Amino acid sequence: MARHPQEHDYLPAMGKDHLLPFYDVCTWLLGVGRIHRRLVELAAIEPGHRVLEIGCGPGGLVLRAQRMHPDAEVVGLDPDPLALAKARRKAARAGLPVRFDQGKAGDLPYPDESFDRVLSSFMFHHLDDDEKRRALAEARRVLRPGGQLHLVDVAGHHHGRFGHRMLRNERLRDNAGDGVPDRMRAAGFTDVRTGERGRLHTTFYRATREG
Ligand SMILES: C[S@@+](CC[C@H](N)C(=O)[O-])C[C@H]1O[C@@H](n2cnc3c(N)ncnc32)[C@H](O)[C@@H]1O
Repeated sequence: MARHPQEHDYLPAMGKDHLLPFYDVCTWLLGVGRIHRRLVELAAIEPGHRVLEIGCGPGGLVLRAQRMHPDAEVVGLDPDPLALAKARRKAARAGLPVRFDQGKAGDLPYPDESFDRVLSSFMFHHLDDDEKRRALAEARRVLRPGGQLHLVDVAGHHHGRFGHRMLRNERLRDNAGDGVPDRMRAAGFTDVRTGERGRLHTTFYRATREG
């Protein structure tokens, strides 16, 4: 049976397709650009690195990564064709050679050991339990030995009323405490580190695929 156009097997950036046009302005108002910049800095991308973002949405992080590292090969992946169309338009306007692929984090269309860095920003809480497990296993599979996963997401820590409200959402609650690093270790990553805490209840994580 054909799906209703708004019925997806993934949770889109703003929850609903018709809200996507507001994504960039909302993230701009919330200062998400600074979080993206910090994630790229922490990833320590080198010339010639192949860099993948899983769940790139309309492309804010990958476009920034490509601007900051013109000698890297940057790829953004997302299941949402509307977000990808927007990202491709922005890349074309900015003259940035980022490649965008449609796909899901739990089933990456790339060979083993084909990236030096995998990035993930505000995506992990969009996944259910099973997809979280598969996404981390896939990130590890496509990373070269010594390659790193750099992830930032909400609800790694939580204070006050806003935090408690967020934790009512099961996918966010799952990020609390050591939820993310425990999952990274279970996926076989080593040297898993919980790093800085940023604005918007965010936490930065780093995990390495053993060399
Ligand atoms: C809040 S947006 C974040 C977009 C971008 N990473 C950023 O920082 O602005 C979450 C994105 O995750 C994507 N997403 C949802 N389920 C996914 C999955 N299974 N695999 C990859 N991406 C997924 C959504 O389509 C959406 O674009």
